[in-house]
Amino acid sequence: MKKDKRSNLRFDSKAVYCPPDEATKSITPNIVMSSSFQYDAEIFQRIVEGERKDVNIYGRCGNPTEYQFEEQMMMIEGADACLATASGMAAISITLLGLLKSGDHIVCDWTTYSSTHEMLDHRLTDYNIETTFVDTSNIEAVRAAIRPNTKIIYFETIANPSMKVAPVAPLVELAHARDIVVVCDNTFASPYVMRPLEWGVDIVVESATKFIGGHSDVIGGSICMKSNLLPSDFLEQIRWNTMVKLGAPIAPFNAWMLIRGIQTLSVRVERQCQSAAKLAAHFEAHPIIKQVWYPGLASHPQHEVAKEQMPKFGAMLTFEVEDGDAALKVLDNLELTCFSASLGGVRSTTQIPALMAFLDIPKSEREEMGIRDGMIRVSTGLEDADDLIEDFDAALSKLN
Ligand SMILES: Cc1ncc(COP(=O)(O)O)c(C=O)c1O
Repeated sequence: MKKDKRSNLRFDSKAVYCPPDEATKSITPNIVMSSSFQYDAEIFQRIVEGERKDVNIYGRCGNPTEYQFEEQMMMIEGADACLATASGMAAISITLLGLLKSGDHIVCDWTTYSSTHEMLDHRLTDYNIETTFVDTSNIEAVRAAIRPNTKIIYFETIANPSMKVAPVAPLVELAHARDIVVVCDNTFASPYVMRPLEWGVDIVVESATKFIGGHSDVIGGSICMKSNLLPSDFLEQIRWNTMVKLGAPIAPFNAWMLIRGIQTLSVRVERQCQSAAKLAAHFEAHPIIKQVWYPGLASHPQHEVAKEQMPKFGAMLTFEVEDGDAALKVLDNLELTCFSASLGGVRSTTQIPALMAFLDIPKSEREEMGIRDGMIRVSTGLEDADDLIEDFDAALSKLN
């Protein structure tokens, strides 16, 4: 099928369709595991003359299976270009290091994944790159934080653990009027729930480890781009100038696993969203639970924004019990739901954000980010929602 026709397919078809392999006609992509490729005089000459992606040079510089994963990601994100990376954090670091120079400034939401926050708040400051942290759901606060040297506005489409939903269109309008690049992390939503490039975002980073892989058995990341601000070959520039130098390409087997994950993304996440909504409604009515954060609940502060930008409300939610000890007791008593660090898999997973992902961030800073010790984050999997509810109810009853 021609690329144009593929691009016009509906989401589910784009996710499932893979072009057959030219030589074998296999409908499942082949994995090219080789780290080295044989040159001849012609290939050698092409490399000398500066050809890069169209010749296979060396595994760290690119690999055919990696490129095929990039094609699939471009299809489902609606991107013009994609660069696959070893992990979600590699996607984030490579994007930031590729876009920024010493003296630049970033405006970033208060609530981002802990390693992203640390990267901005500690590592980049070592290179004279400063970040102002704000609440990106407050457009006036973002406007006030912008400086003449601001290069990036950065946020997560659904932020952890408050499930804050950033108002994408106004943020893009504010940024683009000043030639500021908008970067967002779409990991918690996944491209099934939200496609930020369709809303004008320039670059979307994903931890493909989560919903895209979907089975808690692979680490990978992606950077997808559709931008009028950046040169069309920007991701190829950072492939060579940043990723190859940092040494963070995706492994071919991981790229292959992620292509396979993309094919079932819709059916998995559709069902996961339905169960998450059921859990959220149940938790909201639960007498022991103090608060629930789920974008699909009318009580969620950005429910109206969520309704406008996302056809689904995602599979992630957070609820709060008395304190950290109570949260630990609940998680320790779960039998079906996994007490585990990650998210996005077919098994439901839970964690205590304050005491796990955000532990390295001082408590006062955590509180400013809206992260309280009694919060429990849930990534809803594919178990029967009623079994999950019974599992949580049994664990919550231990708090009485
Ligand atoms: C929102 C978000 N972004 C990025 C990452 C980093 O992804 P990875 O673990 O694939 O590096 C995570 C990991 O949990 C995450 O939750």
